[in-house]
Amino acid sequence: MKAIVLDKAGSSENLMLMDINKPVLKNNEVLVETKAISINPVDYKIRSTEEGLTMMYGATRPVILGWDLAGSVVAVGENVSQFKIGDKVFGMVNFPGAGNAYAEFVAAPENHLAKMPVNTSFEEAAATTLAALTALQVLESRVKKDDRVLIHAGSGGVGHFAIQIAKHLGAYVITTSSAKNRDFVMSLGADEHIDYRTQAFEEVATDIDFILDGMGGDILMKSLKVMREGGSIISLPSSPEIIEEAQKLADKNISVSALLVQSSAKDMNTLKELLETGVIKAHVSKTFPFAEMAKAHLELESGRTVGKVIVKF
Ligand SMILES: NC(=O)c1ccc[n+]([C@@H]2O[C@H](COP(=O)([O-])OP(=O)(O)OC[C@H]3O[C@@H](n4cnc5c(N)ncnc54)[C@H](OP(=O)(O)O)[C@@H]3O)[C@@H](O)[C@H]2O)c1
Repeated sequence: MKAIVLDKAGSSENLMLMDINKPVLKNNEVLVETKAISINPVDYKIRSTEEGLTMMYGATRPVILGWDLAGSVVAVGENVSQFKIGDKVFGMVNFPGAGNAYAEFVAAPENHLAKMPVNTSFEEAAATTLAALTALQVLESRVKKDDRVLIHAGSGGVGHFAIQIAKHLGAYVITTSSAKNRDFVMSLGADEHIDYRTQAFEEVATDIDFILDGMGGDILMKSLKVMREGGSIISLPSSPEIIEEAQKLADKNISVSALLVQSSAKDMNTLKELLETGVIKAHVSKTFPFAEMAKAHLELESGRTVGKVIVKF
């Protein structure tokens, strides 16, 4: 089968298209013939450093990156009960851990997958995985009706799902992006847009109950200023040291924490339902052929992705 293999950490040029053996299935896994893969910032972050690779893959080299996929089941392990050959499935597999999804065939644990919604393309299904799971796992238990929610980077992969899910939960949603993405984020249901290039969000947003911070750094520190008493912030890219520093600076009983998204069939089934009922929609802004995986990485590394970037077979 064709796979994109990475022998050592470094630039996108290290991603090599190769012919390798199909994976051997474990009892709890299905073999998915991959049709579409979604790319996330974590893909290039892990690709870039040996520490990142070791965190996800241990000492194994070479590795196959990738966690987000949609495809068709072509074989099932002995203990698999939820899927049969021919089912169309989607999910974020083995995250955090060895994803192995940049391949024509992927061995995926059944408890990381859901059946694809009817009337959804493989591209849209693949897009509704890591980024959508993150938005769901962050917001579902933290945001309630009428909360004032600020979503930084609302036009990105996580942000564009987060706007739709926060609105579904009944929140008032304020979001940041540059001016060119204003119409896009408003079309997702945002109530207010802040162009971070011309406006200081910390001077515009007030009384915020919850912040989903997809930026970190200075933006996390400035976020403390706009919070209501007892509000909370989840910062996706921040290290434990930065979270600790921000928590020390926080007053008004504000809580600052991080969250690492986890593979989950239960949450994938929630996303399936949200897609089927039209509550969320994936926005795929660019699609690359499998052989151009390196270009897809460069696109993500630009930091300008609108919605999701997909690679397809
Ligand atoms: N902890 C976890 O489990 C977890 C899970 C998912 C993601 N993450 C992390 O969360 C971050 C966001 O992920 P993502 O997939 O959403 O990224 P992404 O799709 O690459 O985000 C790109 C978007 O960011 C916007 N942006 C750039 N600079 C901005 C700024 N200063 N203020 C507001 N928006 C800005 C861009 O809009 P403009 O072009 O309009 O500027 C663009 O639309 C990444 O660091 C990722 O690694 C962590």
